[in-house]
Amino acid sequence: MPEKRGPLDEEQAPLLEVRGVTKRFPGVLALDQVRFDLRAGEIHALVGENGAGKSTLMKILAGAYRPDAGQILLQGQPVALTSPRQAADLGISIIYQEFTLLPALSVAENIFLSHLPGQGRYGWLNRREMLQAARHLLDRVGLDVDPAVPVRRLRVAQQQLVEVAKALSRQARVLIMDEPTAALT
Ligand SMILES: Nc1ncnc2c1ncn2[C@@H]1O[C@H](COP(=O)(O)OP(=O)(O)O)[C@@H](O)[C@H]1O
Ligand SMILES: [Mg+2]
Repeated sequence: MPEKRGPLDEEQAPLLEVRGVTKRFPGVLALDQVRFDLRAGEIHALVGENGAGKSTLMKILAGAYRPDAGQILLQGQPVALTSPRQAADLGISIIYQEFTLLPALSVAENIFLSHLPGQGRYGWLNRREMLQAARHLLDRVGLDVDPAVPVRRLRVAQQQLVEVAKALSRQARVLIMDEPTAALT
């Protein structure tokens, strides 16, 4: 039976769609016309041997690498992902295998690092409010630590949850984790 088509079709566009993405490094074709899509609420696992191109694809989605060919669409609209900050502004956040937290800064400072005063919607925050906002995000990820302590005092599993809280603070619609550890079982 033919599928019904109507005005709702547009709303059913995938949240994120990858079309024909190709990426070459010197001597290596890392990605060869990759297709992929996801919808809100879905959880996907990307599985493949070492060197298969998983991290390369995730870095492209996070704006860290530019594809040599292909298209990325957000809610049906083609987007150029030019930097990690710009991808995060569009709601795509990535947690790398190697964490990007700054050990000497507090949990709260790490969470809001990329959008501290003058850089975004948290520009109005004073320290107490920043700590409160951090506390709220830590509750959401189930991490019971003082947001004022330096990140270096946390265990790796706890640091990973800080990374998740940081992504949530940026209103991520797509959250990518490259090889999460046992922290997130
Ligand atoms: N920055 C880079 N420069 C050169 N080659 C790279 C770079 N990043 C990845 N590669 C190569 O691209 C291929 C895919 O790597 P990667 O995406 O890291 O695979 P995976 O994450 O699936 O293990 C590998 O052959 C790797 O050596
Ligand atoms: Mg990898």
